[in-house]
Amino acid sequence: MATDDAMPARPMPRFPDGFLWGVSTSAHQIEGAAGLRGPSVWDAFTAEPGRVKDGSTADVACDHYHRYREDVALLADLGVDAYRFSVSWPRVDSRGGLDFYDRLVDEVCAAGVRPVPTLFHWDLPAGLDWLERDTAARFAEYVSVVAGRLGDRVGKWITLNEPAEHTLLGHALGVHAPGRKLLFDALPAAHHQLLAHGLAVRALRAAGATDVGIANSHGPTWPASGDPADREAAEFYDLLLNRMFADPVLTGRYPEGVGELMPGSPGEVAADLEIIGEPLDWYGVNYYAPTRVGAPQGAEIEFGGVTLPAELPFSVREIEGRPLTDFGWPVVPEGLTELLTGFRDRYGDRLPPVVITENGCSYEGLDDRDRIAYLDGHVRALHRAMEAGVDVRGYFVWSLLDNFEWAEGYARRFGLVHVDFTTLERTPKASYGWFRDLVRHGR
Ligand code: BGC
Repeated sequence: MATDDAMPARPMPRFPDGFLWGVSTSAHQIEGAAGLRGPSVWDAFTAEPGRVKDGSTADVACDHYHRYREDVALLADLGVDAYRFSVSWPRVDSRGGLDFYDRLVDEVCAAGVRPVPTLFHWDLPAGLDWLERDTAARFAEYVSVVAGRLGDRVGKWITLNEPAEHTLLGHALGVHAPGRKLLFDALPAAHHQLLAHGLAVRALRAAGATDVGIANSHGPTWPASGDPADREAAEFYDLLLNRMFADPVLTGRYPEGVGELMPGSPGEVAADLEIIGEPLDWYGVNYYAPTRVGAPQGAEIEFGGVTLPAELPFSVREIEGRPLTDFGWPVVPEGLTELLTGFRDRYGDRLPPVVITENGCSYEGLDDRDRIAYLDGHVRALHRAMEAGVDVRGYFVWSLLDNFEWAEGYARRFGLVHVDFTTLERTPKASYGWFRDLVRHGR
């Protein structure tokens, strides 16, 4: 239960001029299927009974497709510098093509906000498959089409959202689309997404883009104890979540032992890594919480809404003594400082300027003081990382609107703006007012 003590009273430290304040959304979570949109793997997955906890679909979601003007007005009123949204590949592939995004980008620019599109946020067109290498080439073709149409108004681009989560949840554990339970046989999906990222960077460069990044999910991994078996399991988890996706992008190499597991001969993987390691202008980090990891315990584990099978070489443990969000995720702001300073130490000059492309939490209610406390703590933690010398250029809250939270349906509310999913009415929450003040004062 939040109390008045949870309300931040201390003055917020100053952020440098030009620091980018923003909010994030994704196409499948807010748009709805209206207009000419082809099917995606998420439509097929959602249609299978039992896949989405509340049995809902994203057919309407926030109906952003029809209400985007109202949503852009909310952005304008919020006063953010930038809006991160995603382009739906299945929509672009349909007869409607890029018309919707043309209108959206015009509206966002007219509101004085910078559009920051993500080119893939998990809604793969039905019929395509990340286990197939060719999907990477198809992605690059689609990216060229998007850049050709929007590049006159869009400066800042994001190739992929969280290939780690998409591999883990969608291909290894089967709790997200496309619903495969391949465990470690899912690794080709990771490699092909990373290749798609590299090819997309090249396609964007060919279209003249000079401000290109990726949004990778990362978090510190804490060993459950000093015991060598726990430490080893935690290192392995760090490799899976952090290093397997950051190393190739930032250094052009997989961590030791990982390249051999990827599809293709050693020569082919090495050639792909040249592409994957294309230099970026900035590196996007999505941060929610650290993970405490120990040796396997020989039993299934419930973690953040997901059942982890017993045969994994690690087990996820509770982080004790912390408030939990409605999703059950621990609130650990200093994890963000640790993550960023750790990345700086690990990657040194290879780490370009960082942008926090997602950070947020799920809580019910309009008077969402818990969310304010969460965001306040994380913005301060970010500032501490900057004081410690990490070059951070922006911070995007996940999310502007309550939305379709994947396998959780509409049960988790991450928005600064409440959406009534019956009437589709939007109501700014207390956190919206808090963030508006922060953005104003931040400047
Ligand atoms: C994803 C979002 C998601 C959020 C909260 C991130 O992993 O990029 O799509 O809604 O986390 O779960």
